[in-house]
Amino acid sequence: MALDTECIRADFPTLRRHVSDRPLVYLDSAATSLKPLAVLDAERDFYENRNSAVHRGAHTLAAEATELFESARDHIARFIGAEPNEVVWVPGATGALNLLAYSFSNASAGMGGDEAHRFRLGPGDEIVVTEQEHHANLIPWQELAGRTGASLRYIPVDDDGRLQMDEATALIGERVKVLAFTHVSNVLGSVTPVAELVALARAVGALVVLDACQSAPHLPLDVKALDVDFAVLSGHKMLGPLGIGVLYGRADLLNAMPPFLTGGSMITSVTMESAEFLPSPARFEAGTQPVAQAISLAAAAHYLDGLGMARVHERDAELGQMLVRGLTEIPGIRVLGPAAGEDRVGLASFAVDGVHPHDVGQFLDDLGIAVRVGHHCAQPLHRRLGLPASTRASTYVYTTDDEVQAFIDGVSEVRGYFRV
Ligand SMILES: Cc1ncc(COP(=O)(O)O)c(C=O)c1O
Repeated sequence: MALDTECIRADFPTLRRHVSDRPLVYLDSAATSLKPLAVLDAERDFYENRNSAVHRGAHTLAAEATELFESARDHIARFIGAEPNEVVWVPGATGALNLLAYSFSNASAGMGGDEAHRFRLGPGDEIVVTEQEHHANLIPWQELAGRTGASLRYIPVDDDGRLQMDEATALIGERVKVLAFTHVSNVLGSVTPVAELVALARAVGALVVLDACQSAPHLPLDVKALDVDFAVLSGHKMLGPLGIGVLYGRADLLNAMPPFLTGGSMITSVTMESAEFLPSPARFEAGTQPVAQAISLAAAAHYLDGLGMARVHERDAELGQMLVRGLTEIPGIRVLGPAAGEDRVGLASFAVDGVHPHDVGQFLDDLGIAVRVGHHCAQPLHRRLGLPASTRASTYVYTTDDEVQAFIDGVSEVRGYFRV
């Protein structure tokens, strides 16, 4: 059975909004998705009825908050096919990737003892990323390379944005210690061949870091089946609140990795000279935790479970094809990423010949259509494709066929309006 989009829409209050005197058409879900009532209610319920810091509180509210916080972790673990102690709460995917890079840095500086040897980098070692990464999965690795003396290399894309897998094979040799790449490109909408890259990394013993920000909202995600060592995701792109994300890590790795942030709640004992750290996940959760956000993110996962991720994926792929087909038919439009009929999620970036993306975005906003413009935090990819910026439309479970059509109709008027 297909998703009942009209029924789903009733759960999203933001869709009642009008923009420029027209009903809002929200095509910016890849930046951040709208939130259903179940998520808003979960957050409100926490603050209204249970507001408390978790762990060690001797009162009822703290016990209830702790119970909900840890069940949220269990829920997210099930959602991604992990164990609860493999799920670390972070502020977002950017936070998770920086946590990894700084923990590797700490290991490289000698912290964590013998157990931390797998995370140590130095001159002669290599970190490999791809040319299509979001800056969040690029700059932390650049900085790590800078701090440790390791080199950063990248798998290039071709003129159409396809990952050059033959280059990947040549690049991933014995010196590679970390391979970090995105599951789904936030610009191209294309799905990375994870299994092939993981096989290359496994052959040389490199750690694999998967940026699942744009896949977790759209595809059934099973980190164990994908056989990655770490994965990061962003709660606010999968119907959850802002301010929370997830770092998944294999338990044996997380327990051997020196922490990045230190302070309260992550220790077993502290003297004036030193401290011993708890195992994962507490080891990486210093300070007062984002309890309301974790609980609401679990509500988002519960909502997605109710829809069924296989059906979400099917609908998303359908919307992606509608976007790419409609855009391809408009003269003067260059669609980035896979052509119609090829695999992509519900996301399409494009360039309008002779019109700046900001003007495209403004024109569409005047029609009540929200899209994203700019380099989408992927400057190297845009540079490779010969563009300073692009316009991106991205759909989600609440997007209707009519909305995609309204967007296509809008884009087909852009060049006429700007007289090009
Ligand atoms: C592919 C990708 N990676 C990382 C991020 C950063 O995510 P967060 O907002 O959770 O830090 C984004 C967000 O745009 C993204 O699309």
